[in-house]
Parts: sequence; C-alpha cells; structure tokens
Amino acid sequence: MGAINTVGVVGLGTMGAGIVEVFAKQGLATIAVEIDQSALDRGRAIVASSTQRAVDRGRMSEQDAKDLVDSISFTLEFSDLAAADLVIEAVPERMSIKKDLFSRLDAVCPPETIFATNTSSLSVTDIAATTSRPDRLIGMHFFNPAPVMKLVEVVRTVLTAQEVVSRISELARACGKSPVVVGDRAGFVVNTLLVSYLNDAVNVFDQSRVSREGIDTAMTVGALLPMGPLALCDLIGLDVCLEIMDVLFAQSRDQVHAPAPLMREMVSAGLLGRKSGRGFFTYEKPGSGRVIPDELTPADFEPVTLPRQVYLVGDGMQCEELVKLCAQAGVSSHVVSYDQFDPGQVPEGVPVLVSVKPVQRAIDIATQMGPRIDEVIGLHVLFPNQKGQLVEIAATPFSSDQLVRISQSIALGASASPVICDDDPGQVVGRLLSPYLNDAVRMVASGYVSADDVDTAMMLGCGYPRGPIAFLANFSTPDTICDVLEQISRKTQLSRHLPVSALTDAAIYGVGIDQLLTESS
Ligand code: CAA
Repeated sequence: MGAINTVGVVGLGTMGAGIVEVFAKQGLATIAVEIDQSALDRGRAIVASSTQRAVDRGRMSEQDAKDLVDSISFTLEFSDLAAADLVIEAVPERMSIKKDLFSRLDAVCPPETIFATNTSSLSVTDIAATTSRPDRLIGMHFFNPAPVMKLVEVVRTVLTAQEVVSRISELARACGKSPVVVGDRAGFVVNTLLVSYLNDAVNVFDQSRVSREGIDTAMTVGALLPMGPLALCDLIGLDVCLEIMDVLFAQSRDQVHAPAPLMREMVSAGLLGRKSGRGFFTYEKPGSGRVIPDELTPADFEPVTLPRQVYLVGDGMQCEELVKLCAQAGVSSHVVSYDQFDPGQVPEGVPVLVSVKPVQRAIDIATQMGPRIDEVIGLHVLFPNQKGQLVEIAATPFSSDQLVRISQSIALGASASPVICDDDPGQVVGRLLSPYLNDAVRMVASGYVSADDVDTAMMLGCGYPRGPIAFLANFSTPDTICDVLEQISRKTQLSRHLPVSALTDAAIYGVGIDQLLTESS
C-alpha cells in the first residue's frame, strides 16, 4: 500500500468541513465533495470561517488562511475521488445513505483506496460488509470541533487489515491528533461515556429544579469540564445525541440508555442546538455559537439581607468549608454535628444549613424540625479551583424561597457560584459524575479499552482535565463513590447505577481502582 498523499472527504457539514481543514492544514491534497452547490458553498464557508478565527487570533496570516482554503479542491464531481488514497465520509448518519455512498465509491476508486467512515453511531462492521474491500474500511472518528480536539478513535472491525489500522493511526498522528484504536461497539469509547452522561444530564434537568444555567455551571466550575452538558448537547446536535442514545439502547437494552424524553421531544420540535439556532439555549443565528437571551434567561439576582448567624449542621472538612464560606459572606455560624443536632436548640429566626454528603441529606434534619421544617436547607461547597468555587444549594421540598435566596446571597457574598438543586444524592456534580465514572470502570473491566486509553480518550476527545480512572485514583475514594452510586440507584431505580464490582472490590479491600484495573488487564 502506498503513502496517503491525497485525501477525499465526502459530506461538508460541521464535521466534514472540520476534517477537510485538518487534512489541508497538514499539506495533504484534499478533495472535498458535496451533493449540490449550496452544500458545497456552505462547506467552504465553514472552513473559511474557522481559518478566519485563527487569523483573528493572530495564529495564521491572512495569506496563509487564503492559501489553505484555495488549496482544497471543492467539487461536485464524485469521480474526482478516484485520485484519493483515502476517502472519508461524514454524510448523514443513515445506514442506507452510507451504504449507497460506499457502493458508488467502490465503483469509482481503485481497489487499494482506503475507505473510512466518521460515523458516531452506526456499526462500522455493517458498513464494511457491504463494500468490496471490508479489509480496507475503517472508522476514523473525529470530535467536534475537529480542528481543535486532539482525539481520533480509530475503529477496527474484525475484518480490518492490521496495515490499514497502522496507516490510519500514522496519518492521524501526522495531522497532530492522538489515535486510540478501539473495537466496533456502539458508541465506541467516548460517546458511550460522554453521551450517556449528557442524556443523564438532560433527565436531571428535566426532572429536578436545577436550571439549564445551573447544571452547566455545576459541571464547568465544580468538575472543571470545558463546557456544561446542555451547551455541549447544543454543540454536538441533539439529533446526533439522540441517534447515539438509540444505538446504545439497542445494544444494551438497559433502561439507563433510554433516550431522555426531553431530548426526543426537542429533536421532534426541530430544536437541534447551534445548527438550528435553538436547543437548550438560543443562538444569534443558525450555526452560531453566540448565546442570546431568551425567555428562560434568569433575571438579575437581587441579594437579600443576610442573617447575622446560621445554625450549621455537619462535621469534617466539608463543614469547615461551609464555615469559611459563611465567614467570607460576613455570617457567623454555630456548628453542631449531625449526631448532636437538637431541633429544640435552634434559636428563633436562625436558619439551619446542613452540610450535605451522600449519606446525609438536608431532609433528614428538616423532618426533625416540626413546624419549622421550611427553615432547613442543604449546602455543599466544592473546593475552590481555578474556575472559582461552586456551592450546591440543596433545597428540600419544604425549604422556603427566602432561605434559598439567603443561601444564594451567602454564596455570592463569598464570591462563589451558587447552583440551586434538589436535595438529592450527589446534588448535581456527584449525581452526574458518579455514573460516568462507574461506566468508565465497567468499560475497562470488560476489557474493551485500557485504563490509559480511556483516560486519553476523554481528555483529548472532550477536553476533560483528567480521565475517569485518573480521577478516581486521585480525587475520590472508592467507598465514597460506592455510597453515592448506591444512593443514586435508590433514587433512579436503575440497577446500572449500582457500583460495578471493581469499585466495590476497591472499597472493600482498600486497593486503588487504578491498581485493581491494571492488575486485572
Ligand atoms: N473551529 C476551529 N477552531 C475552533 C473552534 C471551531 N469550531 N472552536 C474553537 N476553536 C479554537 C479557537 O480558535 C481557539 O484556538 P487558539 O487557542 O489557537 O486561539 C481554541 O479552539 C479555543 O477556543 P475558544 O477560546 O474560543 O473557546 P474555549 O477555550 O471555550 O474552547 C472548545 C472551545 C475547544 C470547544 C472547548 O470548550 C472544549 O473542549 N469543549 C468540549 C468539546 C467536546 O466535548 N467535544 C466532543 C464532542 S463529542 C463528538 O464530537 C463526537 C461525536 O460523535 C458526537
């Protein structure tokens, strides 16, 4: 097989155009194909605006940007692809469209041409089996935005020739990407973990009191993710997320993968995210990433007068953080441990703030307060980091609005970001991170991917600050995460939320999960 010098890309939507840019930047002769002139023009405009962005940031000269776009051969002539050593498709995610495309490619391209699919939800094996060259068909899965995200999942089927795997991995590396070779399972590595988490986030948003801004703030400030889950759904496209959940559900038949009803509803309504101009957020125009205010945009918060003192129930470091937070806002706290809490001792007019933990919810204290049940609320302070400090305000069904506003004002008074949520296990961050971490351990324990590869994939494919296994090894103890998962499972009634055996083993035997997974692989 010769070198890959000429690359064809079919389908110039967001992903296809991004892939064209990646190859052209690498100096490869790039043939970009669309089915009609308006789609071709739109594809060219995406590449031009992405390179213009680099010019605006002083990363590229005007001339280089122009040369880059000019170097790409934009064409409607399918037969031009005969010159390509590799053809990758990024056409709509429908099997009939892909099969039809590859059978046309089979007729046009010489037998040695490698075919790749950027599918995120279809079976690469099914696609390969319909071509005349199943050994030379491979998945080359890029991440949005393709010019930025460093990961390429190289999806090998049982039919793919090893040489093709090596060549495509080499090409990805030459383009400045990091390839991770994976087998052909629904969702591969990243989408299985990422889109399940996004689906979960949509359900939490739909079924609890947390706002869309709240859920996104929680995950960016509290978990240091580059984007909140709802903004990310909008970036990926809700239709794409829905397709991925449909295939994950078809494969696992597990209720945990059932697409969130709200996601389906939004797709039916045409609210697809950035591409349609509206998803969870509203955008300046279709295709833009600029969010504009809409009817869900929260009104400016007016702080309330703070009490001089609060009654703080809790113990440990979490509680100490809460004391500091109150002090920063100018509020003194009287601290009692959970065990020593006596409702009769709470002075009139002094609100009760509970330092919530997985096994300790505010409702447990509130229900001891009799007629003063509305004077209790839970708070969970996440340790400060470079994005600031997050305060989850866990309101029980009885917490008064006034107390919610007081809690918000305390957090704002301490320059922290408040997020109002239900008094549920794990609040928002723990509720959404724990099942994702559990899924990652399950995936590694199943032998589908190594601990290192799953970490690399999540960091480079989604911009996470660290991978799930490294996170578990460094920032969490197995027994805490097992506690949270058990509580979550009790709430959701989904057995897949129960901790996987590798996690419970790590908790029981006091072994690091990274060690346990490395030893067993
Ligand atoms: N095209 C080209 N370049 C872009 C870009 C785009 N659409 N968006 C951002 N960039 C570039 C910017 O020019 C900038 O580059 P320089 O540093 O060279 O100037 C850099 O990326 C950072 O951009 P910004 O400062 O504007 O924005 P940011 O710091 O907020 O980062 C982000 C933006 C890279 C998108 C970041 O928020 C991120 O990593 N988000 C997570 C995205 C993610 O999870 N993607 C995977 C989705 S799953 C998927 O795609 C697979 C699937 O099958 C569904």
